[in-house]
Formats: sequence, structure tokens, C-alpha cells
Amino acid sequence: MPHKQSYCGIGQNPRKTIPFLHLCKPRPFLMSKVKTLGQFIIEKQTDFPYAKGELSRLLRDIGIAAKIVHREVNKAGLADILGDAGETNVQGESVKKLDVFANEQFIAALSVGGECCAIASEENEDIIPIDTPQSKNAKYVVAMDPLDGSSNIDVNVSVGTIFSIYRRVSLSGPGTVQDFMQRGTEQVAAGYIIYGSSTMLVYTTGKGVNGFTLDPSIGEFCLSHPNMQTAKSGKIYSINEGNYVHFPDGVKKYIKYCQEEDKATKRPYSSRYIGSAVADIHRNLINGGIYIYPTTASSPKGKLRLLYECNPIALIIEQAGGKATDGRHRILEQEIKTLHQRTPFFAGSADMVEMAGDFMSKYSG
Ligand code: AHG
Ligand code: MN
Ligand code: MN
Repeated sequence: MPHKQSYCGIGQNPRKTIPFLHLCKPRPFLMSKVKTLGQFIIEKQTDFPYAKGELSRLLRDIGIAAKIVHREVNKAGLADILGDAGETNVQGESVKKLDVFANEQFIAALSVGGECCAIASEENEDIIPIDTPQSKNAKYVVAMDPLDGSSNIDVNVSVGTIFSIYRRVSLSGPGTVQDFMQRGTEQVAAGYIIYGSSTMLVYTTGKGVNGFTLDPSIGEFCLSHPNMQTAKSGKIYSINEGNYVHFPDGVKKYIKYCQEEDKATKRPYSSRYIGSAVADIHRNLINGGIYIYPTTASSPKGKLRLLYECNPIALIIEQAGGKATDGRHRILEQEIKTLHQRTPFFAGSADMVEMAGDFMSKYSG
């Protein structure tokens, strides 16, 4: 693996490093070896010479909300929190109770934190301007998908949170819609939380990607995946093939290419699709692969949202050495005109995204 392990052996494959599983005794907990998210953020503040700690505090607030959502996700089967909330959101999708809960937690954490002057969320049609005494001098706005992969909540499959942080362009007072109408290249930081077999927070401030695993016993995110890099090419393609007949020809031909036999390029590739973009992206980031959500009949502009799904994921993927496009052009350079704007999305290992792009230019004009 390209990243080194630094925390209690997380991420190591015991079958590779230790021949017998029964020899894999639990290791003593060495506090000196653990670097918490809080410690890491403070250390990294010196990367930005004029930083006054606002971004650090904002990331810390996101970490706190993530822990609360983790707690609810983990007891979702016990608590009365599964299922529909009985509403539809601005995109006409049915809203799950956990969508509502996660949205409220992140809004609360960002509102009281004092560093954020407006929030844009998948669950809210308009922005949420923050007008509190603490946020008077806030410099940042946050766009988020509080709960990604909602359809997986009720069936105990990984879900996530995605966030994207911009410096405001408005001058003072609560933030405005204009603060969010910035290209993805302007993101100051971005990340995701995956609530999976363990909960991880992965983020970037434009200087590489680092992953932290939540140790529930101490309630801290601990650095487990420093300097994450994705492979130039992989063996996994992730796409909802149920929509095949509606895909553009370029995508259809690329899928056929993935399925062809060819020893030199290790094809056929494996198909893996969870249906939570965070989980599919996280797996492919670690193992190498491509994620595609193209245009379809029901989503003629693509399904995923540029502001709070594609841009933050694209920044992470690029910072890890991969690529993210709409099939032709770089995601991070797309012009944004509305909060809930959709785009086709191709992201992952650089060679695979390029190859899919070649198929798109050749067969889809
Ligand atoms: P959300 O739950 O935030 O609406 O996002 C769901 C997204 C994405 O996470 C996932 O990859 C995709 O929708 C799944 O869509 P299909 O069920 O159409 O494949
Ligand atoms: Mn989503
Ligand atoms: Mn969502």
C-alpha cells in the first residue's frame, strides 16, 4: 500500500504480514504513537503562514458533528431512527430520518462554532445564513451532503458525509448564495466521513490527503492513513449498470472494455457498486479504480451534485494523485450557477479516468 500505517496496525492485512491469524494478538495501546485529528490539525496550521486557527476550528467542529452522527448510525438498528422521515427534499427524493438528524447535527455544530457564515446542504433548498454573535467575523462557508447513500441506511451498509469549505466572497454579515458560486478549484478544504465497518474522516487542505479512524474507546479520530495516494490504475469499475441502456455510447463502450479479457492490462476488471458514493470512492481510492455516474434517462444531467458531492470528492481524488471529470472536462473547473446543480461524474485512478474520457470523446461526440 502506498500509505504507511501509524496507528495500532489499522489497515494492515494480517494475513499478509503475519502467517497465522491466532498470532495476531491485540497490541498494547501506545498513546505516544497516536496522533489525534485535533493534534494533526494544529500541527498542519503552520503550513499556512497567516493562519489564525479559524480553519482548524472549523475542521474540529466538523469532526465533533461526525462523532455524533457516528453514534447514531451505529445504534440505528436499536433506535427509532431508521426509515423515512415522511418528507421529500428539494430534489424530490424521500428523506430518511438519519438524513434529517445528520443535517441538524452539522448545522448545529457549524452554527455555534463561529467560523462559518453560511451553510449549503443537500437537504435545504436555500442556503442557511448564520447570524450569531460568534460568527460575526466568520470567513468561511460550508457546503455539505450530510448523509450520502441514504438508500443504504436501513440495510446496514456504509453511508457517509461529504463537506466542502470555501472562503467567503461577500464582505461581512451572514454569508450569501454568491459565496457558494465558486469553482471547485477555490475550495480551501474538503473531505468526507465514511460510517463503515469503522468510521473514518478523510480530508485535504490542498496539501495531500490524510485519513483518520475513529477509535470509539477514546472518542478520537486517530491518524491511520497518512498521505493517501491512489494507484495510477486499478481493477475496479463502479457504476450502476442497471441503467446501462440509458448510458451514453462512450460509457457503454468503456464498460465493455472493462469486461474484455486482456492479460497485459489485467482485464476483465471487477465490478463493485455500493450505491453510497463515499463508500465507492473510498474503496477505489485505497485499492485503485474508477467511479462513474453518467447521464441517464432519469438523470439527463447526471445525478450527483457539483457543489457538495463532486467538487469535494474531486479535490480529494486529485490531491491523492487521481482525476475527476464530467467525462470530458475537469470537475474542479466547472462553472457553478445553482446550489443543487448536477453533473455527470467520472473519478478515480488517473489512467482509468483518462481512458473513459477517450471513449467518451470517441463515441459520445
Ligand atoms: P444521497 O444519498 O446523498 O442522495 O446520494 C446518493 C448518491 C450517491 O451516493 C450514490 O452513488 C448514488 O446516489 C446512487 O444512485 P443510484 O441508486 O441511482 O445508483
Ligand atoms: Mn449524496
Ligand atoms: Mn445525502
